[in-house]
Amino acid sequence: MSITAVKGFRDALPEAARLLSRVETAALEILARYGFAEIRLPIVERTELFARAIGESTDIVEKEMYTFPDRDGTLLTLRPEGTASLVRAYVEHHLDQRDAIGRFSYVGPMFRHERPQKGRHRQFYQVGAELIGREDPLSDAELLLALWDVLDEVGIQGASLLLNSLGDAQCRPQYREVLRVFGEAHRAELCENCKRRLEKNPLRILDCKEPGCRAATTDAPHLVDHLCAPCAAHFGRVRELLDAEGVSYELDWRLVRGLDYYVRTTFEVLGPGLGAQSAIGAGGRYDGLVAQIGGPQVSGIGFAFGVDRLVLALQASNPDVESEIAAEMAPELFIAPLGAAAEAAALTVARRLRQAGMRIELDGGRSLKSLMRRADKLKARHVMILGEEELAQRRATMRDMEAKQDRKLAVDIDLTGDELLAAVGARRSA
Ligand code: HAM
Repeated sequence: MSITAVKGFRDALPEAARLLSRVETAALEILARYGFAEIRLPIVERTELFARAIGESTDIVEKEMYTFPDRDGTLLTLRPEGTASLVRAYVEHHLDQRDAIGRFSYVGPMFRHERPQKGRHRQFYQVGAELIGREDPLSDAELLLALWDVLDEVGIQGASLLLNSLGDAQCRPQYREVLRVFGEAHRAELCENCKRRLEKNPLRILDCKEPGCRAATTDAPHLVDHLCAPCAAHFGRVRELLDAEGVSYELDWRLVRGLDYYVRTTFEVLGPGLGAQSAIGAGGRYDGLVAQIGGPQVSGIGFAFGVDRLVLALQASNPDVESEIAAEMAPELFIAPLGAAAEAAALTVARRLRQAGMRIELDGGRSLKSLMRRADKLKARHVMILGEEELAQRRATMRDMEAKQDRKLAVDIDLTGDELLAAVGARRSA
């Protein structure tokens, strides 16, 4: 039997890979304009990092991590997200001493043992941004603008931003208790999971997808009504700044997020074309996390997009994206040499043109007919035919595949790449 990929782990074939990197490149470019510098983090971390950062009783830590012992018995985990690793690196390298404010971006695979479906995989990609060392609402607003501008640059239309505040160590415990009492009064209507959550993490009863739980919590008290004065002022200012910039958002009191490190501003972005897995990105403030990982008491806020989901949202926003990608990948010129001497010359010409920046496909050892068939299949815009006879005259035949026209062209193989490029004149805008 042949060996297949592991369930939930997919290959990205060339077209899919190109879409993923198009999205990642666009995101990193916008993030760079906002001052976020890319950092590369390991895929494997000590398990305790995630247990401490994300929280022992979260779904991710309880049931979704890929954890295994190293040869010496140390428990390791394939990272389920990037924030914990980033903060670990920040603390480990004393990055606060380099600059009191750090802005970092990252991109790469993350791993969660979830039930695979459209837009949900066990290995997926994230592109994220973390801003450490600022606690003012201006930094929240700026980060949210960066997130919004990424969507714009990627070309996603019709996304919506959900916003909430989770309060802080002052006000959340009180709200938690208010909500727990509410939940206890509705205990009978809650699913088994939520009954357990009532003790450990009552806020999670608000975002349970079970219809019974949703109905039971319709009249639940809202956290935004229980914020302490500083949290309320912070959230008010963030909203004012977003309003002033014309960023529209919806307040979502059910948005509590599945990671324990969040305080104050939290958000999620829903995208088009995704069905059940519509969260294309999410994030929030994590003011206590750096200290919790053993670093200084500094604030942080960040977000991560799911790149696979951004791709789905892009496909829904732009039905032409596949053909754009195909055009970008097609050779600008197909070189068809006939015979040994022409093949050697073609190798030289192809290399010069490639060095000058042109996308060339070179093939040989077959009949003209079979070479032309291949050029056609590859959707090459132009073909350069180099026969023995043509070579003897230092000429080639250029065929415009769209116009179905031939023209003779002097190709002196001693020309430089740029001269050749000008002579070929077939450069198609990528
Ligand atoms: P998260 O909400 O767990 O947050 O994940 C962020 C995004 O990653 C989701 O909105 C989704 O688009 C994508 N994602 C998550 N799981 C999967 C999956 N199984 N398959 C495909 N895509 C997935 C975080 O990870 C936080 N670290 C975000 C953050 C950064 N908060 C502060 N800074």
